[in-house]
Amino acid sequence: LFGDKRLNAKGWDITDPVEFAALDAARSKFSGDYKWNFALDAALGEKGTVQKLVNPANPQDHVGEIANATPAAVAKAVELAAKGQKTWGTKAPSERAAALRKAADLYEEHAAELFALASREAGKSLLDGIAEVREAVDFLRFYANEAERLGEQDDARGVIGCISPWNFPLAIFTGQVAAALVAGNAVVAKPAEQSPLMGARAVELLHEAGVPKDALILVPGAGDIGAALTSQPNLGGVCFTGSTEVAKLIDKQLAKTADSDAMLIAETGGLNAMIVDSTALPEQAIRDILASSFQSAGQRCSALRMLYVQEDVADHVLEMLYGGLDAMQVGNPWDLATDVGPVIDAEAQKDISDYCATLTNEGRLLKKINAPKEGHFVEPHIFKVSGIEELEREVFGPVLHVATFKARDINKVVDAVNAKGFGLTFGLHTRMDNRVEAIGKRIKVGNFYVNRNQIGAIVGSQPFGGEGFSGTGPKAGGPNYLPRFRVAKRAHEIA
Ligand code: NAD
Ligand code: ALA
Repeated sequence: LFGDKRLNAKGWDITDPVEFAALDAARSKFSGDYKWNFALDAALGEKGTVQKLVNPANPQDHVGEIANATPAAVAKAVELAAKGQKTWGTKAPSERAAALRKAADLYEEHAAELFALASREAGKSLLDGIAEVREAVDFLRFYANEAERLGEQDDARGVIGCISPWNFPLAIFTGQVAAALVAGNAVVAKPAEQSPLMGARAVELLHEAGVPKDALILVPGAGDIGAALTSQPNLGGVCFTGSTEVAKLIDKQLAKTADSDAMLIAETGGLNAMIVDSTALPEQAIRDILASSFQSAGQRCSALRMLYVQEDVADHVLEMLYGGLDAMQVGNPWDLATDVGPVIDAEAQKDISDYCATLTNEGRLLKKINAPKEGHFVEPHIFKVSGIEELEREVFGPVLHVATFKARDINKVVDAVNAKGFGLTFGLHTRMDNRVEAIGKRIKVGNFYVNRNQIGAIVGSQPFGGEGFSGTGPKAGGPNYLPRFRVAKRAHEIA
């Protein structure tokens, strides 16, 4: 159901059986007995625990293992990176940009391996894996161009700690690191503990592309390693993407320990809504609701959580929505027929399933479809609620809440969404231009989408990021992002 199967990173046309067979063959090279084993850089000293990674769709499938960092290794990494920055930071922007462009070429060259890793380590469907590699490549080329556009009128900040989530293990990891590096900083990067192999592979390719090893250092591990990184003195800044809760912890940590001018970029969660009014085209709205809510198993910060349908058309729209849900397939992420893959791990599966059980017991279930029993799958659910006021938190999975509204109350709906304090994405399906304008002015979000789905912002043309509890800005993939990784020239240097 989702996406254009011809959109791809390297010219793979996966609707063509011959090309798909070639992709499948490339993937099989990276499965079975093949193990991605990454050791911690020897220069960082003693290794921490060795972590084993399994396939979320099939936990018996051992994907590989990685040696985690220790807090002492993190301190050492920041010290080494501070030295590395001295050389890397003096290179011309065009030289740093060239390394990013070379990395983009290498990502494309190794695309089949990266699709396979996205699928096996993070449970991404084939189409999501392709979109992931495209986005990462777009970030590399976009920030390379931006660095050359901005030139050298200011200074790098020093060492940036980059901390990323598992739901875009390549794209967000790469976007953060690429922006920090091309602006002349060194980076110590902590990937999510659920997807460190992808982070490690990205770092290998960036090193191969010419980024010096002491300008980009990987420190795998869980939240304790992230906390160790943000508590290092003299960091130039932290670039974080993840939950609002962890962003608040990092903000407090930086205020306590780091140099007073350490900057923080935090891109966080959302409670995203969509309005479908009585003028909307139902066939189009249904397709966009399904993609926004259930693509990537709902594991996107941008995903639709709260759908408002005007009551005059609600019966018809909901009947079509249930039909659309029935047509979706949950299953093996590498199967082209699959629309929804697994959630990331057993903990997420339990959290989302418990939430669904509670709402079902309260008699709110409108519709659900089946999912495989083996593996970390969750059945996509649709629940009836009275409005966004009832949602207590972001449930990060294939769960959609629906409410109806009267035409005269449309502004109250928008105000209720604003009142929750998140501000990431918002969708509107209508054919009234004056409504688009009025709601566009009233809604407080970073990304407002009209008559389309509300996920998958395109680097460069749809800068992405929220406000309120959804993030600090600046928007990733936009013109204001790179300048945040630099700082005005120190006064003595200007004089
Ligand atoms: P998370 O906050 O649990 O973890 C994110 C990263 O922070 C991981 O690398 C984790 O190890 C690290 N971390 C955990 N505790 C830490 C601490 N005390 N100090 C420093 N680092 C710490 O989030 P997640 O479960 O990996 O990702 C899902 C969340 O990310 C959702 O809330 C989603 O909305 C959000 N997200 C936001 C965006 C965006 O662009 N706004 C994009 C993707 C995901
Ligand atoms: N940039 C990602 C999206 O728009 C998070 O879905």
